Amino acid sequence: MKMIHERLSTRAVHVDFGGVTALAGINLTVNRGEILGLIGPNGAGKTTLVNVLTGYQRPDAGFVFLDEKDITGAIPHKVSRLGVSRTFQAVRLFQGLSVRENVLAAAVTHLSNRNEAEARVRDLLNWIGSASVASRKSAELPYGQERLVGIARALATAPSFLLLDEPAAGTNAAEAIELSRIIREIPTKFGCGIILIEHNVPMVLGTCDRVHVLDAGRTIAVGLPAEVAANAEVRRAYLG
Ligand SMILES: Nc1ncnc2c1ncn2[C@@H]1O[C@H](COP(=O)(O)OP(=O)(O)O)[C@@H](O)[C@H]1O
Ligand SMILES: [Mg+2]
Repeated sequence: MKMIHERLSTRAVHVDFGGVTALAGINLTVNRGEILGLIGPNGAGKTTLVNVLTGYQRPDAGFVFLDEKDITGAIPHKVSRLGVSRTFQAVRLFQGLSVRENVLAAAVTHLSNRNEAEARVRDLLNWIGSASVASRKSAELPYGQERLVGIARALATAPSFLLLDEPAAGTNAAEAIELSRIIREIPTKFGCGIILIEHNVPMVLGTCDRVHVLDAGRTIAVGLPAEVAANAEVRRAYLG
């Protein structure tokens, strides 16, 4: 069985792309059972930080820790096996596969017993209200429902941490509310910690337990949603 981890964190993470400093010494922590919002203007470094946390980007300096274990530079497959799962900004499901097959493809990497994997997929699709479309091709789904199935797929491997890169981008208002409701259920239902990257500020403030704000590769605030919303530097850099 996969170990349960309590904390995913970075220490002094630095990433340069040629002349551009994407991350300049970032310390971030997400605890199991909490939803951490990660916000900031375009180009702030949010996706780069999630890439560092999941092994898609090796930092030029600094560390990634899963509890006390140093996982800096571990490849994505290894990080995923250790229990850190993610969704990608604007990445679709496998369009030619059914909804069920999409989630099952992830579930079988965690559960070698086929019946257990299929039971997990059924539970996940019931939970997000997509059981009735399980055998439909993913390409046929409304966009908001496709985003939900993407979250179910990321949860199929029973991660300790789930990193969601703009899951509500491109969804309509009703779909965003449903996504927020589903995301709020994840910590208690699955015991995960979540990092939620999201541009919709009311959604972030209403969904997250804490918020971490980046601007131009630096942390400008970390705190409770109400504290962050009232922070003068955050208002100047991001909330306008
Ligand atoms: N692969 C890359 N090559 C060069 N520059 C990059 C690359 N990825 C990101 N950047 C740059 O790093 C900065 C942070 O980008 P990103 O992490 O995507 O920000 P965000 O997700 O907050 O919008 C931006 O200036 C962006 O242009
Ligand atoms: Mg991004």
